[in-house]
Amino acid sequence: MIPIWLKRSAVIGASGIVVCVLLLTASYVAARIRAPKDARIVEDLKKQVRQDSAFAPKLEAEHKRITAALQRRKKLDDILALVLMAAAALFIASAKWLDASSGRRPLPMDRLVHLKAGPKVRQVLARPAATNGEEEPPAAFVERIVQRHGRSKEAAIPLLQAIQAHYRYLPDEALKRVCELTEITPAQIAGTSSFYSQFRRSPMGRHLVRVCHGTACHVSGARQLTEELRRRLEIPDGADTDARRMFTVGEVACLGCCSLAPVIMVDGQTVGKVTPAGACEALDGIRSPSLT
Ligand code: FES
Repeated sequence: MIPIWLKRSAVIGASGIVVCVLLLTASYVAARIRAPKDARIVEDLKKQVRQDSAFAPKLEAEHKRITAALQRRKKLDDILALVLMAAAALFIASAKWLDASSGRRPLPMDRLVHLKAGPKVRQVLARPAATNGEEEPPAAFVERIVQRHGRSKEAAIPLLQAIQAHYRYLPDEALKRVCELTEITPAQIAGTSSFYSQFRRSPMGRHLVRVCHGTACHVSGARQLTEELRRRLEIPDGADTDARRMFTVGEVACLGCCSLAPVIMVDGQTVGKVTPAGACEALDGIRSPSLT
């Protein structure tokens, strides 16, 4: 909940900036318009003084008037400049405070998951994410895609991509069936699947959590975040998925929103300023029966 006085401060600051800028601009324009007229008057008086010295006091009075006007204008400009700086400071402070109060502060990622602020995230996390193709036996699925992509060695990548897209990894049973039905050999499959990082040989969890390890996120604690997530999910060394296959935790390069570091991506949804505690609490929430 954002305090009303904070919003008012931001509005007052912004209004102050606008008014001061307008007044300073008006003062500058008026001075630019006035200057040639004053110069003309002074020039005329000087000519008259040269012809008749009786005009000297008038010239002096005109000089005094112009000097006084200049000093008045300078004083007013100084005051406006001070008010402008104060208004800008008020606006910046209020805006920063508003920003911090509006949910972009260090997460409580669980708030994004459970509260009104994050219905999209909640939807993403609560959906029955991946099914790992459990509804169709790999052998039957492979027969279908082989009919579509053919049996030649050139069909290896499209076949592997289809299997990966369907199961989110390459089940041994499916790969075996590919070798039985096509000209593709186990060695070719092993080479291709290990060469391209898009292919996985082990099952994925229902939810994919990617922790950004770009420079900004790295210095903001991405390593601790990853370690805490892995520890909380009891993911063993050398693996990236928990025993229940609920979560797969991986690393990713810069996600392009470094100002929100550290950033994680959960099932394609980017969430910034995540704390290890907040992320773990959120995962606990996802693991609860009501969300899964
Ligand atoms: S470094 Fe993480 S989003 Fe850029």
